[in-house]
Amino acid sequence: MTENADGRRWWHGAVIYQLYVRSWRDSNDDGYGDLRGIIERLDYLSQLGVDAVWLSPTMPSPDDDWGYDVSDYTGVHPELGTLADLDELIEQADQRGMRVLLDLVPNHTSSAHPWFADAASGREAEHRRYYVWADPRPDGGRPNNWLDFTGRPAWQWHDSGQYYLHNFLPGQPDLNWWEPAVHQEFARILEFWFERGVAGFRIDVANGLYKDAELRDNPPLDGDNPLEGVFGMRFVYNSNRPETHGVYRDWRKIAESYSPERLLLGETWVPDAQKLAAYYGDNDELQLGFNFPFALADLDPARLATIVEQTLAALPSGAGPVWMGSNHDLGRFPSRWCGGDERKIRLALLVLATLPGTTVLYYGDEIGMTDVDVPPGLRRDHATLDVEGGADRDRARTPMPWDGSPGSGFTGPGVTPWLPMADPPVSTVADQRDKPESTLSLCRRLLALRRTELGRGLADFENLAVTAGVWTYRTGPLVVAANFTDRPADMPAEAGEILLTTSAEQAPPSPGVLRPWEGVVTRR
Ligand code: GLC
Repeated sequence: MTENADGRRWWHGAVIYQLYVRSWRDSNDDGYGDLRGIIERLDYLSQLGVDAVWLSPTMPSPDDDWGYDVSDYTGVHPELGTLADLDELIEQADQRGMRVLLDLVPNHTSSAHPWFADAASGREAEHRRYYVWADPRPDGGRPNNWLDFTGRPAWQWHDSGQYYLHNFLPGQPDLNWWEPAVHQEFARILEFWFERGVAGFRIDVANGLYKDAELRDNPPLDGDNPLEGVFGMRFVYNSNRPETHGVYRDWRKIAESYSPERLLLGETWVPDAQKLAAYYGDNDELQLGFNFPFALADLDPARLATIVEQTLAALPSGAGPVWMGSNHDLGRFPSRWCGGDERKIRLALLVLATLPGTTVLYYGDEIGMTDVDVPPGLRRDHATLDVEGGADRDRARTPMPWDGSPGSGFTGPGVTPWLPMADPPVSTVADQRDKPESTLSLCRRLLALRRTELGRGLADFENLAVTAGVWTYRTGPLVVAANFTDRPADMPAEAGEILLTTSAEQAPPSPGVLRPWEGVVTRR
């Protein structure tokens, strides 16, 4: 985990664990996970083999969107703990060789943020220009055709005689990045956390910050790729504006002024490798941008192989990709990719653990946790609660099942967790911890192998073949062969000595044969 003069950085080859704080471990029996709960279970993470954790929003918030509506960028949400708890978490993680990333939300604030309270106090207010205000059209209509992420108009009328823009909820007014003072505020926020030892940020809506200066109408969307647009509208004027890149060039300089260098990991909601690579700039913007085309692809080896190849070809030299299958918005890959089939879940974990670059696991991926069907009456995602066909993001935000005790090891006996536990119960950490054939044990072995064999660099990668559903690739000194079919398949000729198989079966496989949905890591 050291900084290398040869251009290697601590996140190259690292495994980052996305931890949804409210659902991981409740230390004070109020039904919500918290920072002290994380401190209690840090050994679990270091034994799993993760290098860093990314904490879902930890800052004070009215929680219209569970922390993605920030009311104070330099505090800690009182329900999650205190600044002292966060300092201790950073310190305790560091003692175990792990780093801590926070979630930063620069596209919008909460309407409860003092900046917005002031901005809303009148057209001459000091912070008025921190937000995107616009006059009605001459006919009194909204300034343009933009819709928010629920499909409703993105403009909220305000008593001060103008509309304000919210690409998310009305309680999440968009910041105006054309205003220099907003840049200064965020430079200070970055420095505040970097000085406390925060290793970097996952940047929310990273491609969203600037909006078209003329607020032009978005054009219609052809097709149904959610990365191109939603609700029949292409994301042209309300995101991916060229000026946003300047923000990351500035932030990269700040990140590089610390040792070790701090990480900027963007939520880059873009449809292809070229647009993703644009956020890495000339290796002078974000160091990592999430690969949504990969996460949203089907579990189809030809498609995944193509995306991996295109991504590696598009990134600037010296930069690495980042892979994930699950998150708090998309749902869990054990459901989306694998339909709960354990063979597929294990195979997908193998792929995530052996691709070059950085891998992000979402809490529960390591035990093959699937989405939980949360009954409508118990849903807590206000943002999508009343939206027809709403995303139901709660299904991927339910508490971590630690063990079979009352409260599941998440909270105390008799305490109702904020979101329900899986019913019927799923396989818990305690069920899997000591079983060599469990998914958790497999995941530990995969991460250990990754660490020893793929090291801390940017392993070089070569797609060898995708033939009849078997994907073979070389990654550093290893060759991976993965059978994405329901039939046994011949072991590819390029495979060597088997170091690890995803199969949970005890009996050895017939020589030269991959079982259905079996993957192996081999050494030539
Ligand atoms: C990001 C977050 C999502 C949130 C939205 C608005 O997409 O991942 O959970 O609702 O931004 O902040």
